[in-house]
This record gives sequence, C-alpha cells and structure tokens, in this order.
Amino acid sequence: MRPFRSLLAGIFAAGLLAAPAFAQEGEALPNEHWSFQSVFGTFDLAAAQRGFQIYSQVCSNCHSMHLLHYRDLSGIGLNPEQIKAVSAAVTVPQGVDDQGNPKEGPATPANQFRSPFPNEQAARSANNGAVPPDLSLIVNAREGGPNYVYGILTGYTDPPAGFKVQDGLYYNKMFPGHQIHMPPPLQNGSVDYTDGTSNALNQEAHDVVTFLSWAANPEMVERKQIGVRVILFLMFMTGLTYAVKRKVWSDVH
Ligand code: HEC
Repeated sequence: MRPFRSLLAGIFAAGLLAAPAFAQEGEALPNEHWSFQSVFGTFDLAAAQRGFQIYSQVCSNCHSMHLLHYRDLSGIGLNPEQIKAVSAAVTVPQGVDDQGNPKEGPATPANQFRSPFPNEQAARSANNGAVPPDLSLIVNAREGGPNYVYGILTGYTDPPAGFKVQDGLYYNKMFPGHQIHMPPPLQNGSVDYTDGTSNALNQEAHDVVTFLSWAANPEMVERKQIGVRVILFLMFMTGLTYAVKRKVWSDVH
C-alpha cells in the first residue's frame, strides 16, 4: 500500500509543479485571466471582434492566417452583412486577365484570409531574414498558449545592461533567446476601438490573443458543452442504476 500511496502523491506533486508553465530560460509566463479558460468558459465575442480588428489593421501586414475564411467570422458573432463588408474591403489575387496578367479584386466571404506576402522568399526578405509564422494555430503551437503570445506582445523592454542586441533584432523578455525579428507590433493606442474600450497596450494584446485563441480552437465551446452534458448524463445513469439495483435486491435478505 505504502509505495502505491507515495507514487500517487508523487504524481500529484508533479502535476502541481508542472501547472505554472515557464517559458524557456526561466522567464515566468504572465498569468492573464481568459474568458475561455474555465470548464464553463466561453469566448468573449466583443473582445474577439476587437482582436480581429487588431489582426486586420496590424498583424495582417506580416502574418497570414491561411486556415481562416472570411465566412468563419460568424463564429465571433459577425452577421452575413458585416462579413460581406469585411471581405469586400480586402483585395486578393483573382487569377489572370485576358492578357495573362495577374488580376486582383475584392474578396468574398468564401475567400481565405489574404496573405501579406506572395511567397516565403518575399516574406523573409521583407522581415530581415525571418518568416512571420502563420497565426491560424499559433496559440496551440506554443507552450503557454495565450499567456505566451500575450507575453510576447507585451514583452518588449530595454535589454539588461551588457546585453548586446544584434542589428535588426529587438529585445523581448518572453522570446526564447530574447532577440526577436518582429518589431514591437503594438503600442498604447495602435488602434481606435469604436466600443469605448481602452486601447492601452495590455488591452489590445488581450483582445488579439482572444481572437487568436478562438481561431485556433473555434469548436472549443461546443466541445465543453458536450463534455458537461456527458457528465450530467453519466451522473443521471449512475443514480438510476443505483435505484434499480436497490429495487431489484430489496426482497433479498
Ligand atoms: C512588421 C511585421 C510584423 C508585424 C506587423 C507583426 N509581426 Fe509577429 N512576427 C514577425 C516576424 C518577422 C516574426 C518571426 C520572429 C522571429 O522568429 O524572430 C514574428 C513572430 C510572431 C510570433 C511568434 C513568436 C514565436 O514564439 O515564435 C507571434 C505569436 C506573433 N509574431 C504575433 C503577432 C501579432 C499578434 C501581431 C499583431 C499584433 C504581429 N505579430 C505583428 C513580424 C511581424
């Protein structure tokens, strides 16, 4: 019994220790509150919509999100009219014209999100040798998820004394190695919100990370709801089975 118990205690302790994840090199992750983090949590759609505004106005100059189509924005509460307007405002390549020259025109809701660069070489040469990663799944692709991405966006500081930052790179306390090719994308007031929300850096970062978290896990809320229903069903069945057992065995002494 003893070894088994200490094994259990060990597993439990390891779980506790692993819970607060740390980025590489010991920089603690921020511990933001996210609307979607608890079992019953859902995406704050207003925040996700503001986050889409930030993606469109800022991040999309360098980052693609090739898994998203404009029509998917119904998932953050945009109606068909709004989606049409959003897509029509974006110019995308549309095959070739009669002379064989590449053609461009307004996107439709069925279009993929526009990519800022036609190919990897163009992306690399515009960004000092680094390719801005596609952001469709970035929240799932990085340890620490939303807190890590938030940490990157808010992690630009002066380097510590004696730290030499290479030309063309930027010091970021959250980024592994601390030298990142991405210039600080957000500052206080980078975008103007129409709903009166503060456009301080922290709020902007929080909003765009909410949007990116939705993009990477659009089915999350549904998944949680199914999970809760399954558990309620199992509890009900347990109760029912127990009642039946009592009834069936009630005459047996
Ligand atoms: C001027 C171009 C540019 C803009 C604008 C930009 N980025 Fe980046 N981003 C980059 C580049 C280049 C990299 C690759 C950095 C590297 O590997 O050193 C990058 C990397 C990243 C990463 C990955 C970091 C990692 O762990 O590898 C995230 C997350 C990110 N950007 C999010 C954003 C968000 C969110 C926005 C909008 C608020 C944004 N970026 C705007 C150029 C940009």
